[in-house]
Amino acid sequence: MRLIFNILKFFPPEAAHLIALHSLKLIHKIGLINLFFNTSNTSNPYSLDNLIFKNRLGVAAGLDKNGDYIDCLGALGFGFIEVGTVTPIAQAGNPKPRIFRLFKENAIINRLGFNNKGVDHLVKKLESRKYQGVVGVNIGANKNSQGDKRIQDYLECFTKVYELSDYITLNISSPNTPDLRDLHSKENISILLSTISHERDSFKDTKPIFLKISPDESIDTIKEVVSSIKEYNFSGIIISNTTIDKSILEDKSYIDELGGLSGEPLFNISTELIHLIREIDTEIPIIGVGGVIDKASFDKKLEAGADLIQIYTGFIIKGPNIISELLN
Ligand SMILES: Cc1cc2nc3c(=O)[nH]c(=O)nc-3n(C[C@H](O)[C@H](O)[C@H](O)COP(=O)(O)O)c2cc1C
Repeated sequence: MRLIFNILKFFPPEAAHLIALHSLKLIHKIGLINLFFNTSNTSNPYSLDNLIFKNRLGVAAGLDKNGDYIDCLGALGFGFIEVGTVTPIAQAGNPKPRIFRLFKENAIINRLGFNNKGVDHLVKKLESRKYQGVVGVNIGANKNSQGDKRIQDYLECFTKVYELSDYITLNISSPNTPDLRDLHSKENISILLSTISHERDSFKDTKPIFLKISPDESIDTIKEVVSSIKEYNFSGIIISNTTIDKSILEDKSYIDELGGLSGEPLFNISTELIHLIREIDTEIPIIGVGGVIDKASFDKKLEAGADLIQIYTGFIIKGPNIISELLN
């Protein structure tokens, strides 16, 4: 299996991604996941906001944007899976090439732009999933939606996935949808959070809602975001999405590439942000994501104050064996 993952490194990134996930799905279907990957000893339950997670390691948003691979990702031993980002209407995303893998730096630059099959497709996948573990749904706005329509996009996705998800994440931090990060401002975030909070009150049960933030905002903005989360009684914060700062890369040939940078170079920035928020607030639940590629970085993220951890780039670079490496 390691050989297959090494060969896939020579394929175009999106083709490699599809082949890898399709193969996983097939291996799962014929009941051989345990034969190929070490999925034992992944049970170490952690409870947060009335949810019981099988362990503290989850799949970050973007890896399974459409919910097509929930069961096979769950079978690998992850403690939870966040699907999405999903938007109301299916969209193709930005032109290719739009993913760049920097293997030497354990990093990825992507400018996908919320390519996804639309919320109705995801709803069907959530309905038919067999995986019993925690599934969060990460929601966003279509590229062409502006102003109030953008808020309505979040609302539409929220309403459609609410009953089918264990928690919901409002993604306001993708750098690849123009002006989406403006939603970090005090005024805009209030409109978004009050709209969603009002809608949540119309449901019988209260599900956890997280806000996924950018690592590129000022300290003052982050403090205001935290206070808005508390004001509207949301559950917590996901730190962080990708950074637009490429100056931290050693390979300067990628410095002008548009998109968000993830993986090892993001580790310090996103982990510092966890420290910062823990100084302001010792209680707020934090899902830490950004640059976790080995056991040491996993442990450091927890030490910084994260309750749960997610990975994306580490999974792409190292393959599914990273799960047992981090959990054992
Ligand atoms: C190719 C790619 C696509 C992504 N798509 C999404 C997305 O749709 N929604 C989202 O909230 N984050 C998305 N992310 C960001 C990841 O969820 C994560 O926050 C970021 O990559 C940092 O974690 P990592 O260093 O473990 O990759 C994406 C990341 C990558 C590399």
